[in-house]
Amino acid sequence: MNNNQDPRMNGRGYDPLEGPQVKRTYTPEEAGHDKHRRPVSRYSLTRRRRKKVKVNAAAVVVTLVFALVIGLSLFLIISGKNRPDPNTYEDPTVPEETTEAVTTEDPLPYFTLELFENGIYYGDLILVNSYNEYVFPEEMENDLVTIEDNKSEYCTSSGYSTHISGTALEAFNLMCKDYFDATGFQWLQINSAYRSREHQEQLYSDYVRDYGEEYAKQYVANPGFSEHHTGLGIDLNVNRNGAISYIESDEGCAWFRENCNNYGFILRYPDDKVHLTGISYESWHYRYVGLPHSQIMKDMNFCHEEYIDYIKAFTYDTNCLGYSVETGVYDVKPEEFYEAERGVMIYFVSGGEKSVETFVPKDCEYTVSGNNVDGFIITCVK
Ligand code: DAL
Ligand code: ZN
Repeated sequence: MNNNQDPRMNGRGYDPLEGPQVKRTYTPEEAGHDKHRRPVSRYSLTRRRRKKVKVNAAAVVVTLVFALVIGLSLFLIISGKNRPDPNTYEDPTVPEETTEAVTTEDPLPYFTLELFENGIYYGDLILVNSYNEYVFPEEMENDLVTIEDNKSEYCTSSGYSTHISGTALEAFNLMCKDYFDATGFQWLQINSAYRSREHQEQLYSDYVRDYGEEYAKQYVANPGFSEHHTGLGIDLNVNRNGAISYIESDEGCAWFRENCNNYGFILRYPDDKVHLTGISYESWHYRYVGLPHSQIMKDMNFCHEEYIDYIKAFTYDTNCLGYSVETGVYDVKPEEFYEAERGVMIYFVSGGEKSVETFVPKDCEYTVSGNNVDGFIITCVK
């Protein structure tokens, strides 16, 4: 084609935006570079022309391409991203299997979780009683929050305790809102929640002084052995505009007694379990253990001590504990849980070593709680 036939030609020559005045780019071989380099941009050359820099365009292009190649290579080497395109590049030194291993997805439906010994003493399910002392976290590593600043508008606080577990209060607030929506009741009062060791010492000695040691032991745990230290134990009563009463004697509390298990709470010291808990019946003391454990305990009429023993029979390599509100408890194997669309799987992992490993199914939400005795309880939900 001569210039007269070229449609990009206008009266002044080539339109700079339509076509190049230099009609060809340098091949990589001509430029002395790798043949995979992209050709020099026609547009960049044209712009240089417009600036009327009187230099040899070809030399500029070669220099720019050369600098670009060197610069790019250095950058890729330094950033560790200098990997060839796997679609076009074949490196004879790399065995084929290595490349495949990098791109193959992990087919296992579970992963390995390492659990450390000190985790045995923390979590929503820890059992604290006269023979399982509470292990106070170092530097207040707990989830305590102030009651006054975080409580729902649908309950009150006596001010006797200032702090509570944030997890427990969140569930309690949710319940109080639902309670109010269902019945209009808003008189539940948090009377006592978190207690420090010093607070418990004071309480215990006050009881001994006022009622004698025998009576004190029935209702007040020894300092260090109270689940009030966890912030998960809550003493509740009813405060109707200053008139205080027990939950069990207030007609308006039927909804609470019936439904608190659906929010993660259990009555911790029932009258038929005194021989197991070691504490006399306390109609006011509730404990947050989380879902679905509170529901299972209610269904099975287990106190906390019984439940912690019961769970130990369920392990990942034997049977795990399944649960649904509709069917109650059932045995479930991990393979069945992997396949299920929804479900709950609970199992025990024995501790005792500095660290232990267990498997946890993928594609579910899981929590780990120590039992404060000898291991961990894993709860998987999907
Ligand atoms: N009232 C319970 C047992 C406590 O003092 O922890
Ligand atoms: Zn209590």
